[in-house]
Amino acid sequence: MKANKEQWSSKFGFIMAAAGSAIGLGNLWKFPYIAGTSGGAVFVVVYIIFLLLLGIPILLSELAIGRFAGSNAIDSCAKIHPKWGFAGAFGVIGAFGVMSGYCVVGGWVIKYIINSFTDTNMGADYFTEYSSKSFEPILWMAVFLIITCLIVTGGVSNGIEKVSSVLLPTLVVFLFGIMIYSLTLPNAIEGVKFFLVPDFSEITSFSDFMTILFNAMGQVFFSLSLGMGTLITYGSYLPEDNNLASSTITIVTLDTLIAIVSGLAILPAVFSFGFEPTEGFGLMFRTLPAVFSQMSGGTVIAALFFILVLFAALTSSISLLEVIVSWVCTNTRLTRAWAAAIISALIFIAGCFASLSVGAIPDIKVGSISLFEFFSFFTDKIIMPLGGFFICILTGYVWGIDKAAKEISNNGRLKFAMKKLFSVTVRYIAPFLIAVIFVTSIADIA
Ligand code: PFF
Repeated sequence: MKANKEQWSSKFGFIMAAAGSAIGLGNLWKFPYIAGTSGGAVFVVVYIIFLLLLGIPILLSELAIGRFAGSNAIDSCAKIHPKWGFAGAFGVIGAFGVMSGYCVVGGWVIKYIINSFTDTNMGADYFTEYSSKSFEPILWMAVFLIITCLIVTGGVSNGIEKVSSVLLPTLVVFLFGIMIYSLTLPNAIEGVKFFLVPDFSEITSFSDFMTILFNAMGQVFFSLSLGMGTLITYGSYLPEDNNLASSTITIVTLDTLIAIVSGLAILPAVFSFGFEPTEGFGLMFRTLPAVFSQMSGGTVIAALFFILVLFAALTSSISLLEVIVSWVCTNTRLTRAWAAAIISALIFIAGCFASLSVGAIPDIKVGSISLFEFFSFFTDKIIMPLGGFFICILTGYVWGIDKAAKEISNNGRLKFAMKKLFSVTVRYIAPFLIAVIFVTSIADIA
């Protein structure tokens, strides 16, 4: 008997919710700009290799742990071994860190939706001007948080699943359209080359190379929502007959498809309009309005596009809040609604500082980077890889491949053809890669 009473109502609903958690600002906003600052196609190649070596085995492990234990991230890990609850704790800390930056970007997206309707000129400098304001970005950030909180309060199958099932397919169709348009812009081919044809001669030092590996690893974790227990929590709501291995492949494929399509929607336009691919976190917000302004009916398309980005962001932010809420509800007497409200208020406070650090009060820094960038560094590059590392050790050694495989194969009812490969990646390749990249990169920064 599972500890959780809630369950996904259908396989499609689960895939949409899990893919909905994975697909979000990480694909649409972050992937193109990180690829832009990390050497383009070389980054994309490394990213895909890491998806196979880290992404798939860790995702599958998380789903298996979650379904086996049937509880939130920390309690699920503790059920595998009483001393290992800490492996799930990365999720609760990480979710807080991710959300504190995510809600800032979610707020920017809401503002862009409103501007599209009111036909405000969103020229190339608009993004810097807007994101440096103090009050307004915080207001829209609060709206983003309130919507997230309300959906999470609605519960698993009522809220998360229904929202994801409708919106995700619409987003896919829409993004393809924008990609096709971008590819027909003058000089778009330069962007395609930058994004898809690797130029290894650009890497001139070991430290450059390590930066690309570090960024790609962080992006795999962030984009697939790994190492933080999100998928453990979602896995805990899965019925016993779900095929975990095939669900994993579907989620990874969808997530990667959206990231690549979004790169192909944004980077060709960057080159066509003469922007800089290395521009950083403003890339999507600067480039796409320029694309839309050239289209006939661009205002409507811009509004629709940013609405879809908002929904993609929400299906991820609800999964982030869910990680914390699910843990708080199991361990305190707070109701779901109260837990969601209190946690959102705390995220709001952290988010205010993150938002102000982008421009209004640039002195809010950690070392040489703004608090906003620090949240991203701390989560994608530290918390998630560490969480992923411990998930590998927990699955590969503490729980053991045979028991994990028993869960993955639904007690032997399904064939788990990749068991050997899973074992090698979870026990050796993934932990080794994470440890080496992590230690080398941190030593390089320190
Ligand atoms: N994967 C989400 C995205 O790509 O936008 C972000 C995210 C959601 C990260 C949930 C981590 C997480 F647990």
